[in-house]
Amino acid sequence: MTLLTYLRRKLGLTGTKLGCAEGGCGACTVMISKFHPHLKCIVHHAVNACLAPVCSLHHCAVITVDGIGTVASRLHPVQERIAKAHGSQCGFCTPGMVMSMYTLLRNNPEPSMVDIEEAFQGNLCRCTGYRPILEGYKTFAKVLDFGLWYCEDPTVLNQMYDPSKFIPLDPTQEVIFPPELLNLGKQPPRQMKFKGERVLWIQPSTLTELLDLKSHYPESKLVVGNTEVGIEMKFKNLLYPVILAPAYISELNSVQHTKQGIVFGAACTLTLLGEVLRDAVAKLPTYQTEVFKAILEQLRWFAGKQIRNVAVCLEQTIIKYCFKFGAVLMDDNFFPGYRKTALKPEEILLSIEIPYTKKGQYFSAFKQSPRQEDDIAIVTCGMNVVFKEGSNIVEKILLSFGGMAPTTVIPKTTCKKLIGSAWNEKLLEDACASLAEEMVLPPSAPGGMVPYRRTLTLSLFFKFYLTVKHYLAVDLQHEVLIRYYSSATELFHKDSPSSVQLFQAVPPGQSSEDFVGRPIMHLSALKQATGEAVYCDDIPCYENELHLALITSTKAHAHILSIDTGEAMTVPGVVAFVFAKDIPGSNITGPAFYDESVLAEKMVTCVGHIVGAVVADTQAHAQRAAKVVKITYDELKPIISIQSFYQPVRTMKKGDTAQGFKDSDHILEGEIHIGGQEHFYLETNCTVAVPKGEDGEMELFVSTQTASKTQALVAKALGVPANRIVCRVKRMGGGFGGKESRSIILSTVVAVAAMKRPVRCMLDRDEDMLVTGGRHPFLGRYKVGYMTSGKIIALDVTFYANAGNSKDLSFSIVERALFHMENSYNIPHVCGTGYMCKTNLPSNTAFRGFGGPQGMMVAESWMSDVALACGIPSYEVRRMNLYNEGDLTPFNQRLEQFTIGKCWEECLDISNYMKRQGAVEEFNRQHRWTKRGLSIIPTKFGISFTSVFLNQAGALVHIYTDGSVLLTHGGTEMGQGLHTKMVQVASRALGIPCSKIFISETSTNTVANTSPTAASASSDLNGMAVYNACQTLLQRLEPYKVKNPKGSWEDWVNAAYFDRVNLSANGFYNNSGRAFNYFSYGVSCSEVEIDCLTGRQKTLHTTIVMDVGKSLNPAIDIGQVEGAFMQGLGLFTLEELHYSPQGSLLTRGPGMYKIPAFGDIPVELQVSLLRDSPNDKAIFSSKVRAVGEPPLFMAASVFYAIKDAITAARSESGLSGPFRLDSPATSERIRNACEDRFTKLCPPAEPGTYTPWAVRV
Ligand SMILES: Cc1cc2nc3c(=O)[nH]c(=O)nc-3n(C[C@H](O)[C@H](O)[C@H](O)COP(=O)(O)OP(=O)(O)OC[C@H]3O[C@@H](n4cnc5c(N)ncnc54)[C@H](O)[C@@H]3O)c2cc1C
Ligand code: FES
Ligand code: FES
Repeated sequence: MTLLTYLRRKLGLTGTKLGCAEGGCGACTVMISKFHPHLKCIVHHAVNACLAPVCSLHHCAVITVDGIGTVASRLHPVQERIAKAHGSQCGFCTPGMVMSMYTLLRNNPEPSMVDIEEAFQGNLCRCTGYRPILEGYKTFAKVLDFGLWYCEDPTVLNQMYDPSKFIPLDPTQEVIFPPELLNLGKQPPRQMKFKGERVLWIQPSTLTELLDLKSHYPESKLVVGNTEVGIEMKFKNLLYPVILAPAYISELNSVQHTKQGIVFGAACTLTLLGEVLRDAVAKLPTYQTEVFKAILEQLRWFAGKQIRNVAVCLEQTIIKYCFKFGAVLMDDNFFPGYRKTALKPEEILLSIEIPYTKKGQYFSAFKQSPRQEDDIAIVTCGMNVVFKEGSNIVEKILLSFGGMAPTTVIPKTTCKKLIGSAWNEKLLEDACASLAEEMVLPPSAPGGMVPYRRTLTLSLFFKFYLTVKHYLAVDLQHEVLIRYYSSATELFHKDSPSSVQLFQAVPPGQSSEDFVGRPIMHLSALKQATGEAVYCDDIPCYENELHLALITSTKAHAHILSIDTGEAMTVPGVVAFVFAKDIPGSNITGPAFYDESVLAEKMVTCVGHIVGAVVADTQAHAQRAAKVVKITYDELKPIISIQSFYQPVRTMKKGDTAQGFKDSDHILEGEIHIGGQEHFYLETNCTVAVPKGEDGEMELFVSTQTASKTQALVAKALGVPANRIVCRVKRMGGGFGGKESRSIILSTVVAVAAMKRPVRCMLDRDEDMLVTGGRHPFLGRYKVGYMTSGKIIALDVTFYANAGNSKDLSFSIVERALFHMENSYNIPHVCGTGYMCKTNLPSNTAFRGFGGPQGMMVAESWMSDVALACGIPSYEVRRMNLYNEGDLTPFNQRLEQFTIGKCWEECLDISNYMKRQGAVEEFNRQHRWTKRGLSIIPTKFGISFTSVFLNQAGALVHIYTDGSVLLTHGGTEMGQGLHTKMVQVASRALGIPCSKIFISETSTNTVANTSPTAASASSDLNGMAVYNACQTLLQRLEPYKVKNPKGSWEDWVNAAYFDRVNLSANGFYNNSGRAFNYFSYGVSCSEVEIDCLTGRQKTLHTTIVMDVGKSLNPAIDIGQVEGAFMQGLGLFTLEELHYSPQGSLLTRGPGMYKIPAFGDIPVELQVSLLRDSPNDKAIFSSKVRAVGEPPLFMAASVFYAIKDAITAARSESGLSGPFRLDSPATSERIRNACEDRFTKLCPPAEPGTYTPWAVRV
């Protein structure tokens, strides 16, 4: 059992969250303290509770978020600061962040910014964009820096909280290490055994015991950090019946400095390894520590702190280089196969020696991964060269690559060829030609990216070549490498991020009790930071509750021939199975069209199609049983990528495109593919269903954006009227559209299983990713007619959206893409066509932006092509084509209060665009292998549901006789701060402080027939409904106010009550039916730097100017802007879903699917909410504009800045003009686009001649 399960299920300590169960998100971070018998001191480590076996914690103290502070008693400074700095939105990642910071401070109460950034390498957040978390925690750092920019205008503010009011950190107040554990820790160790249901865990106390046990149980598994074995057992269904835990054996923990190097016991953690090596580098002569430095550089990018704190340096770790190890050399023979070592079953690894280097020896290690931090390498390498004394003649050379085969590869022929050569251009050429021949990969190699991986071997060697050339120049006093080339030798480095946020001050004279327009904290933030906020799976278990696990299809398209539950029945604790035949009502479901089934009956149409479910006493038993249900299939050919289409096909036209093309000077055609995206809300889908025992009543606690739809479709499946089903949503740990429709199927299955007893299911991350679909991948094909000046005359664009196996919301998504096909540009003649493509993938669905970002991304692709074709700077072409006030869109909506021009000018100004442009050009002239790029991109985002009937909302407001107000509305809280804003609205409307108003939850029995919380429209719609309800109540209270003008709120309420006045009111709002109620606008500028040899990129600067009208709450709005921007950054530069040709999702967790992490924040980030911008179409005629979705597209500026940098790189190879760059602009795509002599040596295989590992969908 893991520590996390123990905490949550056995102890009921639910503050610690489950986000992935694979050590990849940090939501489960806790602090473990122990007396280290070898270091003879107490050590504190942040660890992932989801991987820590509870039996490995003997003698350890565990501190969780629940234990360091509560809202009612005393907050710990780390809890207070993340909340008050607006670093908690949905709050699901927050306890993990708190514990990472807490642990850092326990070890170092005055950390540097680098320490803080390092502490968060293993923590993910999908909401905030990380900036506010870092800013809040910067206040603990030695050096304080609160931003880039200070404004003298008193109407413009740039501080959203006052750090001087934070509770000071007082290390003397921390919980002490329990003395009884200290005493126990000092006692002589003894062997311990723990016997579980399937596993015997033995912790030997001496090396002799360990060796005896190993020879007694040769097949036993040694486990130290469990970061490898834990994953194998959870996700690969491996079972190790006997586990030996050698973590406390002194020989395996020792560190010895010898004449040859440093010897580390095999149980030394990577953290300890790093500390010892760092110390050695500081003390020893630099030539001796070449290997140490290379290892330290690699350790920076190895997993997160939580993993490094427990994991040892074995297996496929950084020790892929040739180190002497006892009697065995750790060369390519040491790893005979994938995850195999030369050790015999009865052998163990005792220690590992890392050697010193000598004079004339140079060593480098490189790792290229999709994401810089906490990611597995695409290609990794260690390179070692020894020169003949005082010369540049190679005496010995050893190159070793990971990622080019199941095991480490040493290109022996190349190494041999280079011996005796001088380290010059000729050697480089020979080495590259030879490596290109030797480092081959079959075109269908697992992991894909074959040309890229091959090119990397050459590119990394080239880096090594230049690095060594540089050192040789210094050591032998040769000519020093010129700057033009030397950038290729620089190690990846990013400055600590800094930022500024600008927003409008409230007008002078606004009452201090009126919170509208003030940056108040998310109302649940403190509870989220203490772990007291209750999410769906935190609801205590009912006494007779069961757990459900899904049985899903392993085939993309097949007839089901039979289902055999025989073996599954034998799993302990199994109670029942649910299949289609068990659904009492209708098996037909779907959020917009009834075109899918709750449970597949005769046919499956995607891998992950839900066929049935198992209920059992625990989640582990249910999951184990689900895995052994045998389904036999008659397989059909699946369609994975765009080929066949759903009806109807949507078109949108303005003007006469045929004439437009005739009138144009030039016509160009092109296409861009935009990959899909996984929502990766930190809280996966979860439902608890509780039958009421009479009249078919059932209560559902759900993490969903759509309470009413859940109610309706559950009622349909159960065959009861909707009035028997209550759906309740307290809060979600993120939604982003992913819980708008796809959550319903899980809730329905759980409800069907719960007709007799309460049933709970929280999907594991891999299940969630497999089953629920994500953002639609889009292919955009376009033809553009334009003048030589860059003015665009005509556009014909076609979108193909991969909808998956049901229509879900795809029609509206394609429609929204068409509504945004011209982005912010006035094109006289436009024709757009949108197809929903029917494939055997899980149904794709709503995702922040809802097709809009894809539509605009295609627009920016043709815009970029036109600029490149005309040879005019892209910002000029964009500017000249922008709409103006009063222009008509292709769907004939007049643009009113159009502020893009204003945003554009402010963005140019704040980002210092023109100066930056000059600096970029100068940089590019001076650097051959790193290039910078710059881009400025506008966005115009339509606000409203395009399905007109959804533009309605309700609210219910109760005033109680003590004056407190209970507010309910139709929207759900998923971190976006909707409840906070609604309280602000009610507070202003009723004229009472926010503290008198409370929102408990969203539920179908308080507000009926609600629309999903989506389309960025929830503040507008629900805000108006709340406002209307408050107005009704105010009118009822008015006579009592008039009668007693000096009375208090409570006086008026009481007077009305005794006068028998109804103090409950509902409010309702709808808006009228043009395509969009209004538009939100923004402009963003980004500067990036790319490494042309590896494709790695860093965002140096981003300025975002967003028109959110007159903000209801600048802190929440800026949080939305930054969070959406970072999600867009993931979409356009990083996140890639890989599907096998058979339609199976290969990327099912944070290990394989990378969302942006702390290290991906722009080095400088400036966010400005446009001031003095009116909008009379929203709440309070209040000039607010919706902000949830529109800023996501602002990240396109990073993509096009990358494209700009690639353009500069290509020009070095004589290439110019438009070129295709698909999204996301991953390191692979960047490298492949930067064509040069190395890419030429590694051409791709002819398409159609092989079966690729993954296909583009
Ligand atoms: C989120 C995450 C990120 C990761 N990132 C990286 C990364 O960037 N790079 C990378 O290479 N790996 C990475 N890994 C993989 C893993 O962390 C490493 O392989 C780690 O070194 C394993 O150490 P451990 O102590 O946790 O292993 P365990 O799971 O405890 O054991 C690993 C293996 O080593 C064997 N073993 C342990 N001790 C001995 C011994 N004394 N003698 C013989 N065999 C022994 C075990 O039997 C087992 O087969 C990552 C894992 C996770 C979960
Ligand atoms: S739940 Fe443990 S790291 Fe994600
Ligand atoms: S606040 Fe970090 S995941 Fe939601």
